[in-house]
Amino acid sequence: MIVLGIESSCDDTSVSVLKDGNILSVATNTQTVHSGYGGVIPEVASRAHLKNISAVLKNALDKAAVGLNDIDAVGATYGPGLVGPLLVGLNFAKGLAFSLSIPLVPVNHIESHILANFIEHPDIEYPFLALVVSGGHTELVYSPSFGKYELIGRTRDDAAGECIDKVSKMLGRGFPGGKIMDSLASEGDSGFTVFPRGMKNSPDFSFSGLKTAVKYYIEKNDKAFIDQNISDIAASFIDSVTDSLTEKLFSAAELKKPATVLLAGGVSANTSLRKKASAYAAKKSIRLCYPSVQYCTDNAAMTAMSAYMMIKKYGTDRFRFDPELDAVPFLRIEDKKI
Ligand SMILES: Nc1ncnc2c1ncn2[C@@H]1O[C@H](COP(=O)(O)OP(=O)(O)OP(=O)(O)O)[C@@H](O)[C@H]1O
Ligand SMILES: [Mg+2]
Repeated sequence: MIVLGIESSCDDTSVSVLKDGNILSVATNTQTVHSGYGGVIPEVASRAHLKNISAVLKNALDKAAVGLNDIDAVGATYGPGLVGPLLVGLNFAKGLAFSLSIPLVPVNHIESHILANFIEHPDIEYPFLALVVSGGHTELVYSPSFGKYELIGRTRDDAAGECIDKVSKMLGRGFPGGKIMDSLASEGDSGFTVFPRGMKNSPDFSFSGLKTAVKYYIEKNDKAFIDQNISDIAASFIDSVTDSLTEKLFSAAELKKPATVLLAGGVSANTSLRKKASAYAAKKSIRLCYPSVQYCTDNAAMTAMSAYMMIKKYGTDRFRFDPELDAVPFLRIEDKKI
C-alpha cells in the first residue's frame, strides 16, 4: 500500500511517500521568509504553502519514483495548527483524494509527532508515555493502546520551543532558535548561572517565568558581557528548560510505569534533553525512543506514517472521502475520536 502524506500546519510545506510502512521519500519546503520577523506570520505562511505545494508534491513523487495513480490513500494534517496553512494542505489533499477516488485520512498533527517514532522503531510497545515538545505544544501524554491518549500535563503558558525561540531572539541569535541555542549550549557551562525551573511538583509546565528571568538577566548585564559568555548563558538556559521537562517526564514515568518512553516534536532534537532522558531510561531499564532529527521538526513522513497506521487499524472504509472534512486549528489529542 502506498500512502501520500501532506503536512502544512505551520511554516513547512512537506509531502512524503510511504510504501508498506517504509518511507520512500520526503520533500519539504521550509519557509525562510519569517526569519526577519522572529515568528511565523500566518497569512504569509498560507500564501507560501499555496505557491509551493504543487512543486513539493512533484518532488516527493519523483524522489520515490511513483506516479499519482500509484497512490492508494492520502493522509493530511487537519489540526492543530494555523488555520490558513492547514486549509491549504487539507484542501490540496481533498482535491487529490476526490480526483483519484482514494481514501483521505485526517491526521492529528500532535499524534503524528508522537507516531514519528514508529518510522524508525516499528516495534515500540504500548503503553507508552510521550513528551511532546514543539514550537506550539508542550504536553505529556500517556497512551494505553493505539489511538488512545490521556493528557497528564501541558504547558500553562508558552511551549518549550516558543520559549527557546524567544530567548534566542532576545540574545540576538536568530529564528528559529532551537538549533542555534542547542549548539551554543553544547559548548557552554550549564553551572554558569541559575535560571528558574517553573511549576515544580506539578505535572503541568510553565516557561513564561523563565523567559522573563532571561529578559531581566540581559537587561542587568551589558552587551559585551552577554556576548563574551553567550555559550555559558545558553547552556544555563537550556539546562533550566530540560530540567523542567525531564522532572515531569520522570515523575509521570514513576507513576504510570509505561513500557516505553517517547520524545517527540522539534525540541526532542535537543542534545541536553536526549542526554538527560537517556540517563534516566538506562538507570530505570525503560526503553526510550526518539526520532532522528529529520523526523523531529515538522515533516510529512510522520503524517504518512500516522495515516498508514490508522488504515492498518481501522481499514480504508472508515476513511472514505468526506467533502465536509475541515481544518480544526485547536484540535486536542485527548479528544481524539478516530
Ligand atoms: N535542537 C533543538 N533544540 C531545541 N529546540 C529545537 C531544536 N531543533 C528545533 N527546535 C525547536 O523546535 C520547534 C519546532 O518544532 P516543530 O516543527 O515540531 O514545531 P511546530 O510544528 O512549529 O509546532 P507544533 O508542532 O506545536 O504545531 C522550534 O521552536 C525550534 O526552535
Ligand atoms: Mg509541529
